[in-house]
Amino acid sequence: MLQISNLMVFYENALALNDFSMSLQAGGIIAVIGSNSAGKTTLMNTLSGLIIDTKIKEQRKGGERITIYGKIIFNGEDITDLYPSERVKRGMVLCRERHPIFPESDLMENLRIAGYLRKRSEIKEMIDYVFHLFPTLVRLKNRKAGFLSGGEQQMLTIGMALIVKPSLLLLDEPLLGLSPMMQTTLVDAIKKIREQTGLTIVITEQFARPILPMIDYGYIIENGMLTLDGTGLELMENPEVKGAYFGV
Ligand SMILES: Nc1ncnc2c1ncn2[C@@H]1O[C@H](COP(=O)(O)OP(=O)(O)O)[C@@H](O)[C@H]1O
Ligand SMILES: [Mg+2]
Repeated sequence: MLQISNLMVFYENALALNDFSMSLQAGGIIAVIGSNSAGKTTLMNTLSGLIIDTKIKEQRKGGERITIYGKIIFNGEDITDLYPSERVKRGMVLCRERHPIFPESDLMENLRIAGYLRKRSEIKEMIDYVFHLFPTLVRLKNRKAGFLSGGEQQMLTIGMALIVKPSLLLLDEPLLGLSPMMQTTLVDAIKKIREQTGLTIVITEQFARPILPMIDYGYIIENGMLTLDGTGLELMENPEVKGAYFGV
């Protein structure tokens, strides 16, 4: 479904992704694990195309130069130079790090805004699904999104991504800053999404422990480079992974 070959991303002269390659089959949950600054967000922004927007903005401002090499093939098509909106139309949706939402709009409005590309009947069907997946959100329908807790906002952003009916869902550090209990709730929901919708999920995290049990395959990156990959079980039993990514 997705082939990434020899991705290199430079911010000015700083190399954020170094010859990164990976290949995903449709279905299943794939993790990219790396410590802070390893290049996880750069990878997600490059996959979703957001980095192209950033690059153009920086060029207009006369700011830093972003250079991207390598190739991304999605369902057989070279999408390396496509804008994010074009990638969304092809089924690839990113939930960005630290959940950007519309804080002044209520939860329901946020979900509806996310569905602007879809027909009304489809939006309704997906909103029902989001409330089925996250029952907590039902009683918060009319609350301004800015007043939701971090965990509730994270549920909302995943919900907003689902409204688009993606075939590939990219989650950039969805557990960041959440309590262990909220992390468990989200991990359970992500597992359910996989079981109930069959969509392909790529998830990045700093800490491997909460997510390794649910993933099908994982990649470890350090300083923008792939250092290790394997099934969830293989990574869980690897002493290096245990030492570096299991936290305290
Ligand atoms: N807009 C930017 N300009 C300059 N350097 C950046 C920018 N974004 C990220 N970096 C650098 O690229 C590297 C990878 O960052 P990032 O992809 O955000 O890592 P992660 O998400 O794994 O924490 C880091 O060294 C970071 O400082
Ligand atoms: Mg990041």
